[in-house]
Amino acid sequence: MMARTTTAIAVACLLAALAGCRPKGSMEARDPLRNAFDTVADASDAAKLVPLTYQQAQGKRIFETYCVWCHADATPAGPSNRSNVTPMPAVITDGTALNGLSDEYMQTIITLGGSALGKSAMMPPYGETLKEDDIRAVMAYARAVAQPPYEPAARPKPQIPVK
Ligand code: HEC
Repeated sequence: MMARTTTAIAVACLLAALAGCRPKGSMEARDPLRNAFDTVADASDAAKLVPLTYQQAQGKRIFETYCVWCHADATPAGPSNRSNVTPMPAVITDGTALNGLSDEYMQTIITLGGSALGKSAMMPPYGETLKEDDIRAVMAYARAVAQPPYEPAARPKPQIPVK
């Protein structure tokens, strides 16, 4: 009887001690890459955070899952493959390379892969892996992080009939 009580007290103390081990607030201090899909570091100033819309944040999640291995120099798991791929893919923030691409072109190359457009087959097709919404989200993410910033093409000038 006495021994059981002592054991129970010992277990209770152990549990209390274990619970005490976890510093207050430690549940919030998670890997920043896991809980920061709603922002991204500015490519031209790492101290600045760019806020992302819901769609852009979805795009970031997709980018970090599928594209980061070739379209960034660093990945959450260490260095990327980018420098081993020929031709070397543009980093996602490279506005000089990507801003000139139309939405239609981007959507097509992501959906059908490079070979469908006479480009390198090292750019895989994602039409079977990602939904159209996901592809649009990852495009929205690319537009959000571009440096120099992406500016949507202006509407074509209205054609004024010449009399
Ligand atoms: C295995 C490496 C690899 C992965 C993964 C990859 N890409 Fe690519 N990507 C390439 C290569 C290589 C090219 C360049 C093709 C060329 O220029 O011939 C490219 C080209 C592109 C282009 C067109 C650039 C241009 O100037 O024409 C876009 C847009 C693109 N990738 C988006 C993506 C997106 C979005 C993902 C993820 C869903 C992705 N890529 C995943 C290798 C990759």
